Amino acid sequence: MSSDHLIIFDTTLRDGEQSPGASMTREEKVRIARQLERMRVDVIEAGFPAASNGDFESVKAVADAIKDSTICGLARALERDIQRAGEALRGANSSRIHTFIATSPIHMEKKLRMSPEQVIEQAVKAVTWARQYTDNVEFSPEDAGRSDPDFLCRVLEAVIDAGARTLNIPDTVGYSVPGQFGELIRNLRERIPNSDKAIFSVHCHNDLGLAVANSLSAVLNGARQVECTINGLGERAGNAALEEIVMAVRTRSDVFQCSTRIDTTQIVPASRLVASITGFAVQPNKAIVGANAFAHESGIHQDGVLKHRETYEIMRAEDVGWSANKMVLGKHSGRNAFRTRLTELGIDLGSEEAINAAFTRFKELADKKHEIFDEDLHALASDEVASHSVEAYKLVSLKVCSETGETPLAQVVISAHGEEKSAQATGGGPVDATFKAIEQLVNSAAELQLYSVNNITTGTDAQGEVTVRLAKAGRIVNGQGADTDIVVASAEAYLDALNGLYNKLERAHPQI
Ligand code: KIV
Ligand code: ZN
Repeated sequence: MSSDHLIIFDTTLRDGEQSPGASMTREEKVRIARQLERMRVDVIEAGFPAASNGDFESVKAVADAIKDSTICGLARALERDIQRAGEALRGANSSRIHTFIATSPIHMEKKLRMSPEQVIEQAVKAVTWARQYTDNVEFSPEDAGRSDPDFLCRVLEAVIDAGARTLNIPDTVGYSVPGQFGELIRNLRERIPNSDKAIFSVHCHNDLGLAVANSLSAVLNGARQVECTINGLGERAGNAALEEIVMAVRTRSDVFQCSTRIDTTQIVPASRLVASITGFAVQPNKAIVGANAFAHESGIHQDGVLKHRETYEIMRAEDVGWSANKMVLGKHSGRNAFRTRLTELGIDLGSEEAINAAFTRFKELADKKHEIFDEDLHALASDEVASHSVEAYKLVSLKVCSETGETPLAQVVISAHGEEKSAQATGGGPVDATFKAIEQLVNSAAELQLYSVNNITTGTDAQGEVTVRLAKAGRIVNGQGADTDIVVASAEAYLDALNGLYNKLERAHPQI
């Protein structure tokens, strides 16, 4: 790998999934991984195989499906974790094991209850175990941002000797500031005698809003891998946003002296896919992928852009994929065109039966909204995949009366475990009334933590995509619904979330 290549390591499926409420199913992870592969991400961290059987299966499914990106599994510095990661990654064309142990005084003393010497010993053992499965081993000293640099030098020198080829320096709690973090990277590279045998990587959290700045400062000081996530998703305030890192390095290549191999036109589609699957909407003023990122409002700016684009634009919207929002199919499109577009989008519905069912739904949708966009197809695929997981509750029909000056009334009919039930309720608005009517039938007592509506594409005939987040007994689930009628989409999203809770709680513990 040349020294001017910046490796993009995406951890949306691992650290991104650690955002409360952002859990994804195996199928959803594979769909995101296919989009990351299409975007030419170098390394995809697919999950933490030892965390649960579900995580193991997801990493395995991604490893089996993806051919062009390296697939990475996270493992604590424990033999069983590393063994699980090795097994999950067996089917990958190119695999990496990422093992970590904390090195800050507070983590070693209070969390690990280990001495610094024990930590070095365990780190070396972990890398040696990982080397039994792959030559591509990454090591992270967790909480490096608050670790003693002298101690970091000792640990890192030892793990390079044991065979680690990527040294990832995490700012786990988002405590670092750019100048100091860059200097840390430069010091480590200069002081560790065998540092030339490894690539330095960074993994910055955004607690102070500095994740991207810290990562870029590290790049200026020799880091050649950045760990990041789509839309900056991640634990707490998130990780460095992939789209910002990639576009900063590309737009200011005069400063960074390195480049990525990312196909930047896939950035906006990736952002939309992740937002739609996780239900974490992108704020309109978010750099690169926010709806306003390329919108010029003031007359002076508009005039300038019309006369000469570069007066106010440093990047072109089409270079990051904004023009990808094109009409792809319509009411007269046939099954073959539909199937071909699904394949191009990396959507694999699994069986002929599922494709036929999705095609029927596509025709129904095309009758309602004429122009079908890629985003509509993604929403359709999500609905199709959801309809194959156990659905305890289904919407049969919904009637809503809403009139100025009158209290909205909703009448719903649902199928609950195969039995049709109906109820009606009033509420502050049509959605509130609908949720109350559903609750009368289901009595879930779940807490509604989030309700959000996004239009999937533009226009008043666009599908509204609703996300509902429910919490109960320590479980948080997201439910999604998409329809040209947002009250119907809301009812579907609510029932989808209830199904998620049912699958996580009742089916797992039938006594509840
Ligand atoms: O934030 C962190 O320290 C991590 C490590 C596992 C790299 O996510
Ligand atoms: Zn992290």
